[in-house]
Amino acid sequence: MKKEVVLSGIRPTGFLHLGNYFGAMRNYVRMQDEFNCYFFVANWHSLTTHPDTKELQNSVHRVIAENIACGLDPAKVALYVQSDVPEIAELYLYLNMLAYKGELEKTTTFKEKVRLQPDNVNAGLLTYPVLMASDILIHRAVKVPVGKDQEQHLEMARNFAERFNYRYGNVFPAPQAFNFGNELIKIMSLDGNGKMSKSENQMNTLYLADDDDLIRKKIMKAKTDSGPAEKNSVKPDYIENIFTLLSLVSDPSTVKKFEDDFNNCIIRYGDLKKQLAEDMVKFIKPIREKAADIQNNKDLLKKIIHQGAEKARASASATLTEVRNAIGMNY
Ligand code: TYM
Repeated sequence: MKKEVVLSGIRPTGFLHLGNYFGAMRNYVRMQDEFNCYFFVANWHSLTTHPDTKELQNSVHRVIAENIACGLDPAKVALYVQSDVPEIAELYLYLNMLAYKGELEKTTTFKEKVRLQPDNVNAGLLTYPVLMASDILIHRAVKVPVGKDQEQHLEMARNFAERFNYRYGNVFPAPQAFNFGNELIKIMSLDGNGKMSKSENQMNTLYLADDDDLIRKKIMKAKTDSGPAEKNSVKPDYIENIFTLLSLVSDPSTVKKFEDDFNNCIIRYGDLKKQLAEDMVKFIKPIREKAADIQNNKDLLKKIIHQGAEKARASASATLTEVRNAIGMNY
């Protein structure tokens, strides 16, 4: 039986963090044996917010290295850089004719970016969801492992696919956001204000490149309060987030102990954070060290990126031929 196609991407706009890992990369690793996987570094997307490219090459290499350090095997998947696959840009052009200004302006991420960078509201920012749909549809992917923040973009990708099929004939399947649990994941920042992020709120985000002491320092500063006054209380968001992190990196008996302490109103948040800090150090350290080794090996990185581009272009050009045939652009 033909394997289902999976695709996902990460922007090289800074250091990868626990949100990227648990929202996306952990799923990539789990999917690589069972599915036909395409994972890429979205360097075109990064130009919509980071026009200065001094750091870009380094960041692209780091994203590739960190993905491999987390367990992705470039021999099993296509691991590539978006700009190495020009077919995506052609599909983006066609899909742009099927995307309407009104719907693009209403996208949550667009409105957020307009607020953050009012002096650089470029057309690439507006059509960001169209480029993302092209990334997905160029391989006719059906499963897209992403965090909760990408849900709306996936819905738009389905709309563009449907519109194309309706107008020109059935080329694209409908892609769905995917996570191994039923729910898409959102990892909050350690102060409980918004999500962990590559470029904002850095002292409240845990990065895969953070050293041991910095991990401890950030976790010990995480927001808590004086503890619940009544048994079995509902946890405030920022406490829930600490428990979420604990459940991701600590063993189940540790999680149960602190859950029980919380429910019995005897929780000591200092102890909880100390435990979380040590377990987090154990989790991040091997990833950080392996990623640094790979990142220093430029020959290896070049080889991997080249090999990824070849695999991705084979699939992308097959789709583009069908797209051109469907539109009638085959003279
Ligand atoms: P990006 O680079 O912002 O994030 C990469 C992946 O990490 C997930 N993520 C999170 N998950 C949970 N909690 C968080 N705090 C958190 N922060 C980030 C994101 O959901 C994402 O899965 N537009 C995409 C990149 C992209 C793409 C694509 C993704 C371009 N084309 C095609 C899928 C398919 C983005 O900006 O992700």
